[in-house]
Amino acid sequence: MDSAAGSASASRWESHRRAFEAYLRGLTFSDERRLAGLVEAMRYAMLAGGKRVRPTLCMECAWVFGADPERVLPSAAAIELIHTYSLIHDDLPAMDDDDYRRGQPTTHKKYGEAMAILAGDAFFGEALTLITVHQKGTCEQVVEVVRELADSTGVAGMVGGQVMDMDHTGVGAGTDPETLFMIHKYKTGALIKSSARIGAILAGVGEEEQAAISEYASELGLCFQIVDDVLNATATTAELGKSAGSDAEQGKATFVGVFGLEGARQEADASVERALAALERVHGETSGLREMALFVRHRGS
Ligand code: IPE
Ligand code: IPE
Ligand code: MG
Ligand code: MG
Repeated sequence: MDSAAGSASASRWESHRRAFEAYLRGLTFSDERRLAGLVEAMRYAMLAGGKRVRPTLCMECAWVFGADPERVLPSAAAIELIHTYSLIHDDLPAMDDDDYRRGQPTTHKKYGEAMAILAGDAFFGEALTLITVHQKGTCEQVVEVVRELADSTGVAGMVGGQVMDMDHTGVGAGTDPETLFMIHKYKTGALIKSSARIGAILAGVGEEEQAAISEYASELGLCFQIVDDVLNATATTAELGKSAGSDAEQGKATFVGVFGLEGARQEADASVERALAALERVHGETSGLREMALFVRHRGS
């Protein structure tokens, strides 16, 4: 996070990121030479960079509630693998049809559509293996992590949101605001909310603080996608490492389309304010989470 470079929380984010990247690089999935092509495609997609917002948020939440952030690495990696699968599938010709992601050709451009679909599918299975085989914690905690991810990535989460997004492609500015909020909360907000909740679950947090963290992360997730809409309309492809201007071209249901650029920025401000207000109810050192909220609002890519 740039906003407080030099602060204790800035160096903590950096240390989460470093530990996370090293953990991810260590995932090789299989030694079977017949599957080397699949592993190559998976590693191409997952090691391309990316802001790592979800896994580092998970690690920071674990830290806030007194756990060693490195203890949650298997679950943090599971979250990032599922996120990466969602990006690979999102870019397919049948969905957003994008050629460029994380500063490089999309997985289907590089390895073909069939391999891209299967690499995405494999990420989901590998995510479950990471949690059920490698995540330390009580049985109840591990089951709760699986339940959390199942919930936030299924029909009432990411996939449901993607379906609503596809259903409203072409409708654009004609999308009613209630549906628009719903699309963003489902397709992007749910996994970001889960990322925070999982860190808190593994740290053994109580119900009241979990509720506050959930509200914080839910607003953070909404803000994240509103800002994604703003950046699609205002930044360049080089800045984003993915196609700019595509939402308007495809008539996507976005905050910029429905509320205009200024309106979208105001909605992003409002969601970040709500996130920060929820944070007030969390006891402990939350300056890092505050910094994350400001980063999400003001990020340039
Ligand atoms: C992009 O997510 C897709 C959305 C859900 C908006 P990120 O902006 O987190 O993408 P990476 O992981 O940094 O590439
Ligand atoms: C991506 O949404 C959401 C998921 C992958 C779940 P978008 O299609 O709006 O995001 P970008 O702009 O392609 O990253
Ligand atoms: Mg999409
Ligand atoms: Mg897309």
